[in-house]
Amino acid sequence: MADKTIIKLLERLGLRKIKLFELDSILKQACGDERAKVILDTMDSRAEGQVDRSFYSMKNTTLTGSLVLSSFFEFDYYVNLLSHFKAHPDYIGETVLDIGCDCGILSCAIAIMFPDTKVTGIDRCRNAISCAEELARKNGVNNVSFVKSDFLSYESSPFKTILSSKMAHEAIKKPDWPLKADIMEFAQIQKNQSVSFAKKAYELCEEKGHFISIERFGIDPQALGYLYALSEVGFSFPIGDISSIYNASQTTDCGNIERYPFFLGVKSEDSNNEESTYYAFIFSCAACGLDFTLSEYLGWEAQIVAEYRSGDFVYGFNLFQEGKPFGRISVRRNKEDPTCLIAEQVFGNYAHCSFHDISIQDDLISEIDANLEPICNNYHVTAEAINTLK
Ligand SMILES: C[S@@+](CC[C@H](N)C(=O)[O-])C[C@H]1O[C@@H](n2cnc3c(N)ncnc32)[C@H](O)[C@@H]1O
Repeated sequence: MADKTIIKLLERLGLRKIKLFELDSILKQACGDERAKVILDTMDSRAEGQVDRSFYSMKNTTLTGSLVLSSFFEFDYYVNLLSHFKAHPDYIGETVLDIGCDCGILSCAIAIMFPDTKVTGIDRCRNAISCAEELARKNGVNNVSFVKSDFLSYESSPFKTILSSKMAHEAIKKPDWPLKADIMEFAQIQKNQSVSFAKKAYELCEEKGHFISIERFGIDPQALGYLYALSEVGFSFPIGDISSIYNASQTTDCGNIERYPFFLGVKSEDSNNEESTYYAFIFSCAACGLDFTLSEYLGWEAQIVAEYRSGDFVYGFNLFQEGKPFGRISVRRNKEDPTCLIAEQVFGNYAHCSFHDISIQDDLISEIDANLEPICNNYHVTAEAINTLK
């Protein structure tokens, strides 16, 4: 839950909630008309999908301007995330590395909330680091320091906690996505692309340390591939408390409420398998609001059945149209928490994932069965599928 002391802390650092209609005038006041116009124009092109590194240089020309933009984009998200950390102080170790720290808001806030913790913020943007240093100085935060460095080439002794907040999508080069591919092929491409990032995170993380990652990926093969890369290098993903993760991942982007995947990786020698990684992905899907659209992944409809499942498929069936897979419903036990059932429904571009108590298993299956009847008029449920369902 959002905590008033966190709001006060952010206000102390110079943030406040800014609405879309106020942004233009507040930014002009902070940066002057000309600079504000350039920033707003760049924001528009970023919204259209172009990643422009010079944006952060511009954003961080002055600390005041940077705080206005961070307030507009991130105020609610910071409140939610920091409240989550306050509720889970064990996530934050005695040393924290905040990668892609921008003007240092999260680094400073964590340093203030956890005075015995030593926080290091790094960013590849020089202006961002200057602003971060100014923010710490102005607020008398002594247990934080900042380094201008690219994360991928950063050398240091390891940290107990690494925080990656909305930076992986920038640090990991976007692949050339094929137009059509199976979901796992998409995930594989993202995984290959993410391996050096994941290796660096692992190298900089202490044994039993945490890698906390909240990223601007959709709930899609990109997030799954990223997770597989982290898993492959040695992080494991325990399942946490879904409602608090749900709150922590809520963010506003240009006034729209969004939720981004929130992953907590642990560096440990415990066995780490694909299955638990897949569960962490599903868990994050559920935490992000259950419904998601996959329309940009052409080919999903026909190939959803090719996604891999290892071992724990309890009940489920696939639907076919004219011999082609049409959709799937699966109800599976969650191995991490045997009292919990995961139901997934995927039809074309629509996918829905929900969590249920194991005690309603039979009712849930009957309900899904009944719901399917009208949908199934023109489709046949395979005999094999029915057998696995009953
Ligand atoms: C969207 S901002 C996120 C800022 C902050 N973590 C937050 O949550 O508000 C991404 C930041 O990551 C930085 N960044 C991107 N790639 C980086 C890399 N490879 N190494 C260091 N910093 C990077 C950018 O300069 C930018 O300041």
